Amino acid sequence: MNENSTKQGFSHQSIETNNWLMIALILLVVAVGGLVEIVPLFFQRSMTEPIEGLKPYSALQVLGRNIYVREGCYNCHSQMIRPLKAETLRYGPYSMAGEFVYDRPFQWGSKRTGPDLHRVGGRYSDEWHTIHLTSPRDLVPESNMPAYPWLAKALVDHTTVREHMQVLKTLGAPYSNEELAAAAEDVKGKTEMQAVIAYLQVLGINRK
Ligand code: HEC
Repeated sequence: MNENSTKQGFSHQSIETNNWLMIALILLVVAVGGLVEIVPLFFQRSMTEPIEGLKPYSALQVLGRNIYVREGCYNCHSQMIRPLKAETLRYGPYSMAGEFVYDRPFQWGSKRTGPDLHRVGGRYSDEWHTIHLTSPRDLVPESNMPAYPWLAKALVDHTTVREHMQVLKTLGAPYSNEELAAAAEDVKGKTEMQAVIAYLQVLGINRK
């Protein structure tokens, strides 16, 4: 062994035998690796700007979305089509980051007991959805989706919708003052069923 390799061996050995030094260096490597991947995304317009033509949810759609969250639909349905052939053939164009800028909180989900819903907007009629949500097995005999018959009987709470939209506006949804002022009146007397369907019908329809 010549002098040089002994020296190299020594510094490597001192890292491997010193737990704290090893931990600090691992954290440094992981942090740098993570930052290099994540930070550029903050500056990429396609990641942070809405896609062309994307509209914030209307008053009724906002309430429908809240019901979607309340009923836990995300436990069985994702809203995130991956750029894989099998997915795009089944569901349609893959999801883009700019489609979700008004989604707070996002509903990407992580489990697919049922199909992905990101491109379900416009796929079925309102009537189909009403029957399906009231009694899924009337339309899809092998379905294991729960029935949600109470949605058709309950009216939406029109008194709080304006505040919901106000909060979304502070987070970047471009609502006009007129839209906010009209929100309560727009949804008054509508059923929860109508609200959920209004939401489902706009999912993923803006992607060209
Ligand atoms: C226990 C899991 C489960 C839950 C919870 C659930 N679903 Fe489903 N859903 C399914 C399954 C399975 C299917 C496929 C069979 C069918 O169409 O009924 C489905 C199908 C659908 C479809 C048709 C999708 C398509 O492309 O054909 C829609 C729309 C839908 N669900 C909406 C909802 C909504 C809204 C909620 C919440 C109110 C919900 N689901 C809750 C399991 C679930």
